[in-house]
Amino acid sequence: MIQSFSKVNKVSGTLSLLGDKSISHRALLISSLAEGKSIIRNLANSDDVSSTINCLKDLGIEIEQSKNELIVFGRGYKGLQKPGKLLDAGNSGTTARLLAGILSVQMFESIIIGDESLSSRPMKRVIEPLAQMGSKIKSSNDGKLPLNIYPSEKLHAIRYHLPVASAQVKSAILFAGLHLEDETIVIESMQTRNHTENLLELRVVKEDEKIISTVSKNNYPEANEYFIPGDISSAMFFIVLTLLTKNSELFIRDISLNPTRTECLNLLIRMGGNIQIEEKRISNNEVYGDLLVKSSDLSNIKIENEIIPLIIDEIPVLTIAGIFAEGLFELRGASELRVKESDRIKAICSNLLKVGLDVEEFDDGFRVSGSIKKQSEPFNSFCDHRIAMAFAILSSLFDKDSSVEGFECASISNPYFLKQLQAISS
Ligand code: S3P
Repeated sequence: MIQSFSKVNKVSGTLSLLGDKSISHRALLISSLAEGKSIIRNLANSDDVSSTINCLKDLGIEIEQSKNELIVFGRGYKGLQKPGKLLDAGNSGTTARLLAGILSVQMFESIIIGDESLSSRPMKRVIEPLAQMGSKIKSSNDGKLPLNIYPSEKLHAIRYHLPVASAQVKSAILFAGLHLEDETIVIESMQTRNHTENLLELRVVKEDEKIISTVSKNNYPEANEYFIPGDISSAMFFIVLTLLTKNSELFIRDISLNPTRTECLNLLIRMGGNIQIEEKRISNNEVYGDLLVKSSDLSNIKIENEIIPLIIDEIPVLTIAGIFAEGLFELRGASELRVKESDRIKAICSNLLKVGLDVEEFDDGFRVSGSIKKQSEPFNSFCDHRIAMAFAILSSLFDKDSSVEGFECASISNPYFLKQLQAISS
């Protein structure tokens, strides 16, 4: 589907977003593991989260939608049931990797598959630590999906230093460790999002610049009520649009302000963005609050290696902010972008070249300078939701109508993007 976008002259109003995608996946998984009825409010109603729901249903979990809540009837310790079919994680890396951790410790065989994009993404990063724990997990496709997981008698806790800064890998190990008597320890050199640790109330300490998380069967969850704060990664598209549009002001309610996710806001504030955090609240150990965003003049600043894992999902839209900011936009140390829903370095560079910007591509990032010279060719989404929405924002800043090919993939994280854009734009 080719979606066209007209110029947005001004942004105003109030926005509430669907629940954060990462927290939604985890609340569903944890509720399914707990014994009895859990209630989840403001769950993301997106394609990726539906993939998790469908896999859990295939594993024998009853899930009911009731008004604005989702009710999950968890089956308790090792209560999941052998699925009657292949577990389809769709486009969702979080579903595939976190489920791999959970299924590694079950007493039945299962197979995880995914769509074309997910089937080309690396899974060795979860296979290796789970195999170290004694799991019988095998890829029939050179370290990629499908993953075949067989029951194992010999599971044991490990102490694991994460070789790649990935919350998905960390969480797969923590979910497996949740089923073991002894303590499993995961050590990170670079902080990644910590929703699994928050929702499971794990012990996390910082020692010599390392972040050390510990889990065991003692942390096994009980049925609970969850409120999922709004998705900050989805909010970023509208935040950037507001900053770059004259005379604009946007209020965003109940948005996740987890410190492992707000580096994208801090970066925009350091670039000169007028973003006020109004009030903070806490639910299930997750901080959230309200934001007031106003039009601003931005200047580019250096994006350092250590913050890359903390802004990894927001880089496509931060690039759009960067091309309108003073000075050149340069990103390095971000090779992980090559193994996301698309090769995001290639996707961003090829779309920016279409508008006549000077773009230099590196293995681990890119540099953008010059000015926009043409506004006519449609952008390509590369079937990647964040690329589709980032270039929808760029299109909305052009004087002439512009378009994004394959825009339907936006529903992977935000099926309401177009409605929300329309509601705040004039
Ligand atoms: C996620 C972690 C990140 C992020 C993804 C969601 C999560 O991936 O890019 O969109 O929910 O744990 P990695 O952990 O692989 O970097």
